[in-house]
This record gives sequence, C-alpha cells and structure tokens, in this order.
Amino acid sequence: MLVSAKEMLDKAKAGHYAVGHFNINNLEWAKAVLLTAQENNSPVILGVSEGAGKYMCGYKTIVGMVNGMLENLKITVPVALHLDHGSYEGALACIEAGFSSVMFDGSHYPIEENIAKTKELVAICAEKGISLEAEVGSIGGVEDGVVGKGECADPDECKMIADLGVDMLAAGIGNIHGVYPDNWAGLSFDTLAAVQAKTGKMPLVLHGGTGIPTDMIKKAIDLGVSKINVNTECQLSFAAATRAYIEAGKDKSGKGFDPRKLLAPGFEAIKATVKEKMELFGSINKA
Ligand code: 13P
Repeated sequence: MLVSAKEMLDKAKAGHYAVGHFNINNLEWAKAVLLTAQENNSPVILGVSEGAGKYMCGYKTIVGMVNGMLENLKITVPVALHLDHGSYEGALACIEAGFSSVMFDGSHYPIEENIAKTKELVAICAEKGISLEAEVGSIGGVEDGVVGKGECADPDECKMIADLGVDMLAAGIGNIHGVYPDNWAGLSFDTLAAVQAKTGKMPLVLHGGTGIPTDMIKKAIDLGVSKINVNTECQLSFAAATRAYIEAGKDKSGKGFDPRKLLAPGFEAIKATVKEKMELFGSINKA
C-alpha cells in the first residue's frame, strides 16, 4: 500500500539520512526503482512530473500501475507516490487519483500567493493523510519547460511556508535540474544552514540531485536535507546502457530486438544508479 512520505521523512531527519525521490517515466522505471528499494530495504519516493504524468496516460493509470506492482512484486518497504513540481490543479488531480504525496510548486508566484495556495492544500492534504511538499526559491535549470534561475531562498519566507503545516520544504540553495554546468558555483551551504535554523524539524528537500558531488550531498544531509530528488542521472544511465546494447549489435542477434531484451540493460542501469544513490543518502536498511 502506498504511504504518505511524512513518516519516512521525519525518521530520516531524526536519523540524519535522506530518502531518495526518483522520477519515473514508464513501467521499467517504476519497476526498477521499486525492486531496488525492496532489495536494499530502503524507503523510497516515486516522483512523477506533470509532463511524465501526461506521457504515462494520466495519474489514474500511474496509480493503477504502481499499486499493481506493489502487490505483484511483493513490495513491503514504505513507498510514496509523489507529484513533482505540481501546479495547484495538478496537485488536486493527483490527490483525486490516489497519489499518497504531492508537491505544490508555488515558487514562481509572489510569496503571498504561494502562501495562500499552499495553505489551501495543507488543509486538503491533512484531511486525506497525504503528504505535501512546498517550494520557496525556484530551482534552476529546465524541467518540463519550467525554467528557474537557481536562486537562493529567503530563510524568512521558508519559515512562513514551513509554519503553514507542510510536511517537507524545498528551498533553492543554488541547485539546478539537469547536468550542472562547468562553472556552477556549488550549493550555498550558508543559505541551507540559515533555512535549517529557521525551520527546525522540517524535512528539507534537495532538488537537482544529479551530478552534485558526494561531499556536498553529505554536507547537505548534515545540514538538514532529508529528501533528495534524482531524475536526469537515471535517464543518462538508461540511455548509455541502451546505446551500448545497440552499438554492440545485440538487437540484431537472435531475438535481441524483443523489448524485454532490448530494455533490460537500461533497466539494470537504472537499478545500479538507484542503489548507488541509496548508499550515498544512507537510506539502506531504514525501511
Ligand atoms: P535532476 O534531474 O537534476 O536529478 O533533478 C531531479 C529533480 O529535482 C526532480 O524534481
């Protein structure tokens, strides 16, 4: 059964580790992430962007697929199905469809409007036992056409949003979605420490997990990050393994064109990336 992300993140915050949020794109992705979590006895969050939601034929299809997998694969570790960077309407649609967690990304609104909309969703989610992530200070890079500047959040604004009763808070600390440019300045730990000081026990979320050096990830966890989002890195691993299979001509040998064979190396590559992240984040055996 899908669970809210609240308990797993509160435990992670108290235990000084982070739970991985891995974006999914299709059946192979969801299966790879779920099996890796189970094999490593780790809690996990499956992230679905609005674009990926459309691609997978809507939120209800995804809920049906993931619930079916939990049963068929005998998944017993805590799993949250979470909307990533949702609009207000998207969050409502996911709640209706059976997601166990949603993010409302109001970071592009003036803070008053972000507060007003987040507040409405706090009430709705609380009633249904669904966890809610809010965002202050937009995350840079391009994700589903949404471009941010990689800003650093205002710690006072973070406190205002945290105090509304959300379950986790994403604060921009110079992080960016996608591959980091060579001239990236790195995470702003001063901002993170200031946000942490103002928000106390609130689990903090680090977006743009792909390509952040391991020492920065560890320091971010030390400073209160309890959820880390990874998307691009699984896509790159999947693409590289699929490319190697085709370049080796394996699709032309025997029944190598069968999608169950063709997609297998990419599937294994996603599993390896997810496991590596779970080790780094410290979530193994924390289910
Ligand atoms: P990356 O694609 O950089 O890993 O970011 C993922 C993310 O933050 C999803 O919200």
